[in-house]
Amino acid sequence: MASITIRNLDKETKQALRKLAAENGHSMEEEARILLGNAKKTAKHKLISLALQKASIKQAESEEIELNLHDKRILLVIGGGIAAYKCLDLIRRLRERGASVRPVMTKAAHEFVTPLSVSAIANDKVFSELFDRDDEHDIGHIRLSRGADLIVVAPATADLMAKMAQGHANDLASTVLMATNKPVLIAPAMNPQMWSHPATQRNLTTLQSDGINFIGPNAGEMAESGEAGVGRMAEPMEILSAISNILVPGNPPKPLAGKRAIVTSGPTHEPIDPVRYIANRSSGKQGHAIAEALGRAGAEVILVSGPVNIANPEHAETIKVQTAREMKQAVETALPADIGVMVAAVADWRSVNQADEKMKKENDKGPSSLKLTENPDILKTLGYHENRPTLLIGFAAETEHLERYAKAKLKSKNADWIIANDVSPEGGVMGGDKNTVKRLTRTGIESWPRMNKQDVAQKLVDEIVNHFEVETIEV
Ligand code: CTP
Repeated sequence: MASITIRNLDKETKQALRKLAAENGHSMEEEARILLGNAKKTAKHKLISLALQKASIKQAESEEIELNLHDKRILLVIGGGIAAYKCLDLIRRLRERGASVRPVMTKAAHEFVTPLSVSAIANDKVFSELFDRDDEHDIGHIRLSRGADLIVVAPATADLMAKMAQGHANDLASTVLMATNKPVLIAPAMNPQMWSHPATQRNLTTLQSDGINFIGPNAGEMAESGEAGVGRMAEPMEILSAISNILVPGNPPKPLAGKRAIVTSGPTHEPIDPVRYIANRSSGKQGHAIAEALGRAGAEVILVSGPVNIANPEHAETIKVQTAREMKQAVETALPADIGVMVAAVADWRSVNQADEKMKKENDKGPSSLKLTENPDILKTLGYHENRPTLLIGFAAETEHLERYAKAKLKSKNADWIIANDVSPEGGVMGGDKNTVKRLTRTGIESWPRMNKQDVAQKLVDEIVNHFEVETIEV
C-alpha cells in the first residue's frame, strides 16, 4: 500500500483528474482510487493512471528518504489522558514509516482509548498487566523494555512523570520504564496548572537530569472548555520528528520536502520623493521566522521581503523589494506554489505623483497635500489567481475588532487561513519579539497563547504539515 498526495500531482494530471471526477460525480480522491484499482482494465484513462502510479512511487520514495524508521522498534506507553486518542494517529504514522509499535497501556489509558483500536492499528497485542499469566513466565516486562529501540510515553500524565521521577514500579508501564536500558522519550500532556505545579516542574528537572528526552508540551487550548496554557501534548508529527532525531540522528525529518512556499515579509516603502516615503513599523521578524521554519521543514521557500534590518533566513531564497508593486510582481513571478504565507505589512497607499527631486517647503503656502492611490492587494490577487497556492494564508493586523475584521479578510481575500494579530501599540507586536495571535480557518477559530515569533512560526508550520498530511490519501 502506498500513499499519494493529490496536490503533488503535476498540473495536467490534476486537471484531467478533476474533469473526470466531475464527470463521474466523484471526489478527486475517490476517482484516483478507482482509477488505480482499474488501471489495468481501463485503457482510456491509462495516462492518468500511469501518472498517479508514478506519483505514488515518487511519494513513497521521498517519504522513505524523508523519515525512514525501517525496522525500528518502538515501545509506546500510553498514559491515561484525553490526548491518548492522538496515539492512534502516531502509531499509524510510525508504521507507515517502517517502524513496529508495541503498545503498553496504563489502566487509566483504557478509559480514553480502547485496547481494541490500539491493537488493531499497531497490529500487535496491547500489554497492560504486570502479572500477565501468558507473558510473565519469562519475565515479560524485562523483555518488553529491552526488546525496543526506544520507549515513547505519550501522553505522559503528571502521575506517570511523578512515578518515573520517584522510581516507582507498581504497574506494567512504570516497571517497563524502570527496567529499560534504552532511550526514553516522553510527551507530557496535562492541565496547565498541573504542568506548572512545582511538583511537576521538580519531576521534570529530575527526569531531564536522568537523561529522559522530552517533546512538548505545547501551548494552546485544552480539552476542558475555557482552559488554555502550556499542557497540550505535542502533535503526532512533532513526536515523530523527535523519535527520528533520537533514532536516526543527523536525519531531521523534512515533512514539507517537495513543497514550494512563497512568503512575504516586512513593510513596503512607497516613495514620495527621492528622500521621503510612506512606510509602517513592521520589522519583518514574523515573516522571516516563518520563511526559515518552512525551509527547515524541507520546503523550497521564496521570501519576498520589503526593506528590513534583519538577516536573510538561512533556509530560504530572499528577494528584496521596496514597493508593493515590486512585491506583487516578485510574488507572481515566483508562482506556482503549494503554500503562500502573506505576512508583509504592505502599504495600502502610494503617492500618485512621485517627485523626481526633493520636494521643498514653499513659504507661506503651508504643507502641500499628498494625493494617494491604492496599492494592489497581493494576498487578494493570489486568492483569485489561476495559479492560486494550494494553501493560502494571510495575516490580519488589527487594533480593534480583531475577529470580525480578520473573518472579513479571510472571505474577501479568498484565503484559507488568517493569522490575526492585535497590533495595538501597548502589545508591542510591531517590531517586538513576541506575538499573540488567533488562527482563523473557514470552519473555526483558535487562540494561541503569547509566544516568541519563532514559536508562532514553528506552530504555524506544524499546522501546515498537518494540513498536508490530512490531504494524503491511501490508495
Ligand atoms: N496584504 C497584501 N497586500 C496589500 C495589503 C495587505 O498582500 N496591499 C495582505 C497582508 O500581507 C496580510 C493581509 O493582506 O496578509 C491583511 O493585511 P492588513 O494590513 O491586515 O489588511 P488590509 O487588507 O491592508 O486592510 P486594512 O489595512 O484596512 O486593515
